Amino acid sequence: MPTLTELLGIELPIIQAPMAGVQGSAMAIAVSNAGGLGSLPCAMLTVDALRKELEAIRTQTTGPCNVNFFCHAAPVADAGREAAWRAALGPYYRRYGIDPAAIPEGPARAPFSAEFADVLDEYRPAVVSFHFGLPPAPLLARVKALGARVFSSATTVDEALWLEARGVDAVIAQGVEAGGHRGMFLSDDLTTQVGTFALLPQIVRAVKVPVVAAGGIADAQGVAAAMALGAAGVQIGTAYLLCPEATTSAIHRAALTSAAARHTALTNLLTGRPARGIMNRLMRDLGPISGVAPAFPLAVSAIAPLRAKAEAEGSGDFSPLWSGQNATGCREVPAAQLTRELAARL
Ligand SMILES: Cc1cc2nc3c(=O)[nH]c(=O)nc-3n(C[C@H](O)[C@H](O)[C@H](O)COP(=O)(O)O)c2cc1C
Repeated sequence: MPTLTELLGIELPIIQAPMAGVQGSAMAIAVSNAGGLGSLPCAMLTVDALRKELEAIRTQTTGPCNVNFFCHAAPVADAGREAAWRAALGPYYRRYGIDPAAIPEGPARAPFSAEFADVLDEYRPAVVSFHFGLPPAPLLARVKALGARVFSSATTVDEALWLEARGVDAVIAQGVEAGGHRGMFLSDDLTTQVGTFALLPQIVRAVKVPVVAAGGIADAQGVAAAMALGAAGVQIGTAYLLCPEATTSAIHRAALTSAAARHTALTNLLTGRPARGIMNRLMRDLGPISGVAPAFPLAVSAIAPLRAKAEAEGSGDFSPLWSGQNATGCREVPAAQLTRELAARL
């Protein structure tokens, strides 16, 4: 079983996790130049923005890079559910003087598509990773034909076997401690979601491809422990959120460095899919999981104006304050330094 360093010809088996909304090419470039695998999250990029980011990467690093996409099935809008959701948010709309009828509906996160694949064709990234499964077979075949290694997240042994059967080059074992969206795609039953050090050895035993550990790993000892359990590499997100290269908002940074960061939960209120974030007012008031929230990513639009108004007042009451359970590794140090420090015990 090759390690990540052997598979990609990189120096350090550290993947800086792709994190949509809080980082772009600057972070990816810094990590790839430091010998790790930098990642570009594309879930919130247009095709033109993707091209710009890949151009920046091409001119500023010769190291391999990971380009990451969501690959959810496009949701079917449900007017009844949307109306119930907006009714649940009614008291907040009134508090901020927002007319719910004026809020545009529509998806805010685009899944991987042929148009994105066309851009990848121009730039040929070393790694393309997916969250929420894999794109349809013809699109996946296109990515493979570009020569990219394909990685995807698994949150259960079944998902890891499903990905391996479809030809991924590595499985990212995402434990429930992880910040941001659960990559889960075969089941939406949250009782299947387990911690990194429970999941990792089970997946390592079950598949033949390299397994990358993700979730709650925040320092060099944690990295070494994951490697001792059979990981070929480690993917780390939360610890990078305070780096100067991250575009993490001031509100999000403040939450990560406060006692609030000790209180995270999985919530579907902010996008429609379970994701781990620091508790905020919306999660406390409604309970972090709701059957009323529209399907991913349709829940985003009803929250967007509330988020904007609250943030203008300096509040994260309606913001996705994504964080893993272990924010103790968050430091305001350059991403290159953090990457080298994370690999210091190998
Ligand atoms: C702010 C944030 C945004 C994220 N966005 C993405 C994303 O766009 N794509 C993805 O595959 N994973 C995303 N993730 C999940 C990471 O890939 C990874 O599983 C997680 O960060 C690992 O756990 P840790 O945060 O405890 O290090 C995100 C995580 C965070 C914290």
